[in-house]
Amino acid sequence: MTSITLIATTAFGLESVVKREVSALGFENIRVQEGRVEFDAGLTDIPRANLWLRSADRVLLKMGEFEARTFDELFEGVRALPWENWITREGRFTVLGKGIKSQLGSFRAIQSITKKAVVERLKDAYRVDWLEETGPEFTIRASLLKDVATLTLDTSGAGLHKRGYRAHTGVAPLKETLAAALVQLSFWRPDRLLIDPMCGSGTILIEAAMIGRNMAPGLRRSFASEEWPAIPASAWHLAREEARAAMHPAGEMRIFGYDIDEEAIAGAIVNAKRAGVGKDIVFEQKDVRDLWIDQQYGIVISNFPYGVKLLDYKELNDIYISFNKTFKKKKGWSVYVLTADKMFPRYFKRSHPDRVRKLFNANIEVNYYQYFGERPPRTNG
Ligand SMILES: C[S@@+](CC[C@H](N)C(=O)[O-])C[C@H]1O[C@@H](n2cnc3c(N)ncnc32)[C@H](O)[C@@H]1O
Repeated sequence: MTSITLIATTAFGLESVVKREVSALGFENIRVQEGRVEFDAGLTDIPRANLWLRSADRVLLKMGEFEARTFDELFEGVRALPWENWITREGRFTVLGKGIKSQLGSFRAIQSITKKAVVERLKDAYRVDWLEETGPEFTIRASLLKDVATLTLDTSGAGLHKRGYRAHTGVAPLKETLAAALVQLSFWRPDRLLIDPMCGSGTILIEAAMIGRNMAPGLRRSFASEEWPAIPASAWHLAREEARAAMHPAGEMRIFGYDIDEEAIAGAIVNAKRAGVGKDIVFEQKDVRDLWIDQQYGIVISNFPYGVKLLDYKELNDIYISFNKTFKKKKGWSVYVLTADKMFPRYFKRSHPDRVRKLFNANIEVNYYQYFGERPPRTNG
């Protein structure tokens, strides 16, 4: 089997989550750097990684890595790579470039030098003096970091957060990849009660239900590399068949989503159905201030409204006070809140957060406050 190196790119702060996902897929020799998780793979792993990775942004095929302090070094380094193994004679290709903390900083120049070098390589390899560029599409990424150029081909196309189920987005939806990470960073397991009292379009709960049902998140979409002749169509077919067979039937999960906004709830119901988890989640319109909890054990994962855009100060203050009242004495509940509001821990007085993780939501710095609850006895939820 052809040996290749794949890179799962990640949002800041999610490297460890993606590393765990990569390892759970059976890959070994995993290397983690800021924003990327690199691993050795075979050709047929391209479909598997794209179909299954929940919290990664994209899956890139690593073509090579070399030092490049000058444009000549970049040109020669790019030209030396075996692009013809992947890009067909008619292949169309675009180059996205970036230079960080490097001598070569101009992304435009990086792009045009890289493009020229790939064109030269392909013209030689195919013995032509003109490339038609009418065939399958390839996106090359040329990223320079501290004068080291990493050249990749993007196997995903649209970012992996685009699962294909979200028809309704609500006011401030979370990226599906981030929502999946929030669930995976929590104590939630499919046999435990889960609620999101301000669920908006339902992203966190839909991702949880998909995890609970062992559903491959990419099963409802296509990927750029499906058009590449180098990957046999049978590999995609097999990976999809395996993913379908791995899915657990709709069962006994207890997942509940509430929101004050009637339209958001209607949208969440549609999204959950489209994701194939309509029967796994109960959505209901409800003000968080009316939330009544009588279960002793459970998990809350929520992305609170914040910022002047969404709520005024008085309303947010009310929400915090009632949320604190509801969960202050519920020691059996683990509470996970994602918010940009650094004042949140002052209002939620049950304890100090057990963990705080800095993340980014649509380029806004946010914190994921984690308050661990007592574990339920084995038979309880
Ligand atoms: C940041 S958004 C949640 C987005 C959600 N995670 C998603 O992916 O779509 C916050 C949500 O809180 C809801 N909300 C605001 N005030 C509320 C209240 N008093 N009770 C319940 N939900 C409320 C808003 O309608 C909004 O959908």
